Amino acid sequence: MSMAGTDTAELRPADPFVPQIYRVDRVSRELADTVTLDLTPLSGSRPPFAPGQFNMLYAFGIGEVAISMSGDRAHDAFVHTVRDVGAVSGAIAKLAPGAVIGLRGPFGTGWPVKEAEGSDIVIVAGGLGLAPLRPAIYEILANRGRYGRVVILFGSRNPTEMLYRHELEEWRRRVDIDIEVTVDHADADWRGNVGVVPALIPRAAFDPHEAVALICGPEVMMRFTVNALRDVGLTPESIFLSMERNMKCAIGLCGHCQFGSTFVCKDGPVMRFDRIAGIFTVREI
Ligand SMILES: Cc1cc2nc3c(=O)[nH]c(=O)nc-3n(C[C@H](O)[C@H](O)[C@H](O)COP(=O)(O)OP(=O)(O)OC[C@H]3O[C@@H](n4cnc5c(N)ncnc54)[C@H](O)[C@@H]3O)c2cc1C
Ligand code: FES
Repeated sequence: MSMAGTDTAELRPADPFVPQIYRVDRVSRELADTVTLDLTPLSGSRPPFAPGQFNMLYAFGIGEVAISMSGDRAHDAFVHTVRDVGAVSGAIAKLAPGAVIGLRGPFGTGWPVKEAEGSDIVIVAGGLGLAPLRPAIYEILANRGRYGRVVILFGSRNPTEMLYRHELEEWRRRVDIDIEVTVDHADADWRGNVGVVPALIPRAAFDPHEAVALICGPEVMMRFTVNALRDVGLTPESIFLSMERNMKCAIGLCGHCQFGSTFVCKDGPVMRFDRIAGIFTVREI
């Protein structure tokens, strides 16, 4: 398996600095502050991407942010799930169908879905962290026979802020994957797990000596998840994380996304844990 996530050199855009114009084809409201947008180019077709990669979305006159692909590779559009937390994400989350947006990408490394064939897969997501993992889940489910056991562990703040709730319920009905959902704070109707997502790991059904873990969520959640996976026996080489840092150029030139000796935009966002273990626990990096 490679040092970082899957190498995506062949997927880099021809001119990474020039935003292409995309049209918003569809807007789906996921949560009070979160939408999913389907974006198609005004001319031609969208470039290919690997699960785990991101695009730079440009809200005209406001700014640009990195947003992960959250849709199926088989889909014609780029699908992005955006939470309104600031000026740029707020402007993007308010776009209506027919609006246009600038887009550069795809950028970054991908989840090792191909390299992990033959292994058990354990996917651990917290909150919006399920969005960058969703294309990997689609890919694994489309090729289900190529993997061992597949476990999805998802943590949400509460039942009403649960991302992709209907899809989680659909996946739960499948007999060929194990899915466990937990919430930090239950409501009166919640009958499931309560607590943090790493607490689900010790009783999850996978072979730690044969498993590859894919993790995305808030950094503190990822730290505890790595510890819990290490405790049950996963090696650092079999744990992959998607890191988040502020980005500008997205191609390793400006240094905005520096993380120790690596750049999250080009060496990540998907990184193999052994490569960043020394700096992962240092909060200010
Ligand atoms: C590789 C990568 C992939 C990403 N994928 C996604 C994605 O799929 N969907 C998505 O919505 N965002 C994603 N982000 C985050 C996104 O790039 C922006 O950082 C975020 O949208 C905030 O940008 P802003 O300019 O709107 O807000 P800012 O003006 O930067 O921030 C406004 C306020 O929100 C806080 N804030 C910033 N980021 C977050 C956050 N993620 N959650 C909560 N509070 C925050 C800040 O501390 C600040 O107080 C990704 C980032 C990276 C690096
Ligand atoms: S965003 Fe410029 S180096 Fe990563």
